[in-house]
Amino acid sequence: MAASNPLETVRGSIALYTGAVVLLFYFITSIHQKWSRYRFAKQHGCGPIRALPKYDPFLALDRLYLNIKTAKKRKILETNVLRYEEYGNTFSTQRITTPLILTREPENVKTILSLKFKDYSMGDRLQVFGPLLGHGIFTSDGEDWARSRHMIRPNFIKEQVAHLEIFEELMEDLFALIPTDGSTVDLQDLFFGFTIDSATEFLFGHNVHSLKKRVSQVVDNGPDFSEAFNYSLENILTNSRFGPLMFLNRDPKAAESNRVCHEMVEQFVDKAMKVREKYDEEKGVDESESRRYLFLNGLAQQTSDRTRIRDELMNVLLAGRDTTASLLSNMFFMLARHPKVWAKLQEEIATLDGRAPTYEELRNLKYLKYCLNEALRLFPVVPLNSRTAIKDTIIPVGGGPDGRSPVFVPKGTAVGYSTWAMHRRKDYFGEDADDFRPERWENLRPGWEYLPFNGGPRICVGQQYALTEAGYVTTRIAQRYSVLESRDPGPWEEKLTLTLSSYNGTQVSLRH
Ligand code: HEM
Repeated sequence: MAASNPLETVRGSIALYTGAVVLLFYFITSIHQKWSRYRFAKQHGCGPIRALPKYDPFLALDRLYLNIKTAKKRKILETNVLRYEEYGNTFSTQRITTPLILTREPENVKTILSLKFKDYSMGDRLQVFGPLLGHGIFTSDGEDWARSRHMIRPNFIKEQVAHLEIFEELMEDLFALIPTDGSTVDLQDLFFGFTIDSATEFLFGHNVHSLKKRVSQVVDNGPDFSEAFNYSLENILTNSRFGPLMFLNRDPKAAESNRVCHEMVEQFVDKAMKVREKYDEEKGVDESESRRYLFLNGLAQQTSDRTRIRDELMNVLLAGRDTTASLLSNMFFMLARHPKVWAKLQEEIATLDGRAPTYEELRNLKYLKYCLNEALRLFPVVPLNSRTAIKDTIIPVGGGPDGRSPVFVPKGTAVGYSTWAMHRRKDYFGEDADDFRPERWENLRPGWEYLPFNGGPRICVGQQYALTEAGYVTTRIAQRYSVLESRDPGPWEEKLTLTLSSYNGTQVSLRH
C-alpha cells in the first residue's frame, strides 16, 4: 500500500474543517433567523395562515399546471374568487420557488401600498419590462422611483389634462370607422386605436394616427409604431409568464420592435431638447411649438438626459394606453346589455343639448361617473397585482383560526392582491355585488375596498386624465347615437394581458 502524501492529508483536513465551519455558520445563522422571526411574529400577535393544498411540496408544479389550465379556459379571475370563498380572504401558496400570500382584504392592501410602503418593492418588474421601458416611473423602486414620480407628476395638473381638443379631433376618426347602417362593429378594437392616438399626441405632441390610417387604408411601408409597441407588449407578457426563466425567452422580433419604439420616441425627445436649448439661450420659443409639446417639454426642462426622458415617456405610454381603452370597452360591453342604463345616461347627457362638454360640465355628469365607477368596480383594469417584501414584515389580518390575526410576511415573499375579487365582496358591495348597477354609487363611499387606480404613494398619476378621456368619448358617442345594441355572442369573458379587456371584444350596433 502506498503511503499517503502528508501535504495532501493536511489539505484534505483543511477542506473538511472549512466545510464544517461553513455548515456550522449556515446552521447557526438559519437557527438565529428562525428564532428572531419567531419572536418578531409573536411580538406582533401573528397567527398561522391557511395554505392552498399542493401535491408537489418543492415547486408546487401542480398549482402551476392548474393555473395554466384555468388561464386557457379564460377563468383565472372567476376561479380566483372561488378560492377566496373556499380558503378565506387571505391564504398562502407558492409560485415555483417564491412564497406567495394572496389577499382580498382592504386592510392588508392598505398596509402593503401605504402604511408599510417602504417594506415592499415591485419584485421583478424591471427585468420583465426593462427591454422596452428601461428605468422609469413604472419600473423603478425606492429613490429612483421617487425621482421619476417627482418629474412626471407636474405634467398631470388640470391645465394639461383638460385639453379636450385632442379628444374632439379624434372623435371624427372614430366615428368614421363606425358603420352607418347599424351593422356590427367591435368598439374595443376602435378604443385601443383611439387611446394610442390620444396618448401619443398627449405625450409626444405627435399623434401616430392609427385610426386615420385605417380610415384611409393607407399602407405605410415604414415601421409602424403601434404595431411595434403591441409586439413589445406581448413579449413583456411572455417574459412575465417565464418568470425566473425569462432569460430563455430570446425573440429577435421583440428586440427589433423595442428598437422601433425607442427610435420613434427619440425623435421627439430630440425636438424637445432643441426647445430646451432655445430656452437656455433665451432665444424665445414659438408659443404654439411649446404648447404642442407640453408633456415632453415639461420633462426636458427638468433633465437633459435623453435616455431618461425617452424611458419616462415609454413608461407613461404603457401605463396610459391600454388602461383607458379597456375601461371604455368593458363599460360599453355592459351598457349595450343594459338598455335602461344607456337610456338614463343619454337623458343626463341630453342636458348638454348636443354640445361638446367642457371639462367642468364633464365632471358634473353624475350618472356618467356612476357608470365609469361601476365598470371599474366589476372590471378593474389591473385586476391582479403584487408587491414583494424586502424585509420581514406583517399584514394586519388573515392569521389565526378566525383569520383576524396579523400574518407574518418573511422577506422575499410576494403578496398578491386581487382588486377583481375585492370589488366583488358582498359584505362591502351588497348581495348584488356581481351585477352591473351604476345606481349603487348614489350612496356608496368606499375606502380601500374599491381600488381601481391603486392607493398610497404609487396611486395612478393618470387617473383624472383617464376619467376625462373615457367620460368625453362616452358623452360624444351617446350624443351621436341613440341606439346601442349588444351583438356579442356570449357572456363577457376575460382577456387578461397587461390589462383586463373582453376576450370577444365589444361587438355592438350603433344607430342614430
Ligand atoms: C382607466 C384607466 C386607468 C386605470 C384603471 C389605471 C390604473 C392604474 C393602477 C392600478 C396603477 C398602479 C400600478 C402598480 O403600481 O402596480 C397605475 C399606475 C400608473 N398609472 Fe394608471 N391607470 C389608468 C390610466 C392611466 C393613464 C391614462 C395614465 C397616463 C397617461 C396613467 C399613468 C400611470 C402611471 C405613470 C402609473 C405609475 C405610478 C407610479 O408607480 O408611481 N394611468 N394606474
